Amino acid sequence: MRKIYVFDTTLRDGEQSPGVNLNTNEKLEIAYQLERLGVDRIEAGFPAASPGDLAAVNAVASAVKNASVVALSRARISDIDAAREALKGAQDPCLHLFLASSPIHRQHKLRMSKEQMLEAAEAAIKYAKQYFSKIEFSPEDAGRTEIDFLCQVTEMAIKAGASVVNIPDTVGYLSPYEYGNIFKTLKEQVPGIEKIQLSAHCHDDLGMATANALAAILNGADQIEGTINGIGERAGNTAIEEVALALETRQQFYQAKTTLVLPEIARTSRLVSKLTGMVVPGNKAIVGANAFAHESGIHQDGMLKEKTTYEIMSPETIGLKDSKLVLGKHSGRHAFREKLIDMGYELEEEQLNITFAKFKDLADKKKEVSDEDIRVLLEQKLIDIPEEYKLETIFVEYGNQSTPSARVRILRADGHMLEQVAEGNGSVDAIYHAIEQATGEEAQLTDYLIKSVTHGKDALGEVHVVLTQNEVAVQGRGVSTDILEASAHAYVDALNRIIEKRKSGTASRRDKMSLI
Ligand code: KIV
Ligand code: ZN
Repeated sequence: MRKIYVFDTTLRDGEQSPGVNLNTNEKLEIAYQLERLGVDRIEAGFPAASPGDLAAVNAVASAVKNASVVALSRARISDIDAAREALKGAQDPCLHLFLASSPIHRQHKLRMSKEQMLEAAEAAIKYAKQYFSKIEFSPEDAGRTEIDFLCQVTEMAIKAGASVVNIPDTVGYLSPYEYGNIFKTLKEQVPGIEKIQLSAHCHDDLGMATANALAAILNGADQIEGTINGIGERAGNTAIEEVALALETRQQFYQAKTTLVLPEIARTSRLVSKLTGMVVPGNKAIVGANAFAHESGIHQDGMLKEKTTYEIMSPETIGLKDSKLVLGKHSGRHAFREKLIDMGYELEEEQLNITFAKFKDLADKKKEVSDEDIRVLLEQKLIDIPEEYKLETIFVEYGNQSTPSARVRILRADGHMLEQVAEGNGSVDAIYHAIEQATGEEAQLTDYLIKSVTHGKDALGEVHVVLTQNEVAVQGRGVSTDILEASAHAYVDALNRIIEKRKSGTASRRDKMSLI
């Protein structure tokens, strides 16, 4: 298997993401993690850009022992000297020199002819060669450079002393076919090409960064450049984790591999996201929260029977514990039953059916049903008592300048529908008055407790009430994504318990309950 070198530029091109600014300590923390991940080269920054960046590159250069540390430099003596200063303490330093080669950049940015560009680049490489044994040269915007001229530039760089020639698709313009062909042509036509490494550096403006890097590998690239999570200038760079997993998963096809420690990928991704403040989208390949999550019933059923039905790689490969079967409205009974078993519950068929129906009901209201949600559903099931009253609907009218009112519809066990409207000091008070008047059950609300039992905006709210009637206190509990509905359920639940006690003759002073 051919080894593909990994050049990480999270700390340089990645830091060029709008809004990202890493201080020295943050760069160091990421650099240590990149070392654990096993990248071959770490581009730590652009020392001529600011004294802060020079200091950060210097700190990374002194700290990193198991990767070459690279500093970026324009083709200028002052930049090269700043990089020399920054890389002083590095065990394996490398200078990354760049000068644009495309007609657009030559004409509008550099105002240089082809000959002038060649001369300036050659002079810079030769100057740097006095101080660096490893030099990478990048003809910026190589992707839009005339192919003959790119061959000339590459030949010049080899002769002048570069050890790596990088081919940046600076503006993410090329298709994989075109980008791959550049590598093929350089390999076939440039004298001395076997003496150096060819590197691929892609941007994601058209969503091609990973595909282009892989096309370069198929056509002879020795190194890929990229960032963790694909962060970088504009739409970002090639995501290193995507290339690494493509090579790992499709070894037979690519016949090439990196030497990355793949189980460090998830941790590295989280760290970069945390320190750059760039959130990884849920659907991001490899490291997105949903990359190993399955929601639809059909997929979950397949996963439970055989993981390879819907997973081409395992989450353990990148250091995650397990795939996630997300319980939501598309989930089926199979996944639901497995989840309950996982949580330590084994239900009879009938109980399972009832709980599954409640789960589906909840899943319609919530995007994702968590373990805590399920526990609440199960507890609701276990404490069921005969229902004299069943809350059908509530309607609440509230305004800060008007008296709140509530309309409730309650089904009595004999099939009679009770309906009542009442006002109150607040919405909950109005609901409780309406229930009291509808049922004719007079009881005192002696305690009311509300808490969130799950997390997020659509969390389940749980209401506990204590109702006292003839000195007998009972508790009631209601759960819903809506706190007013939970409050109504809790009250009706408590009424049912009062009635149950009355019927079974167990209502006595001994039943006075203390609050949980
Ligand atoms: O995209 C680019 O061209 C670069 C160069 C500095 C290599 O980042
Ligand atoms: Zn770039």
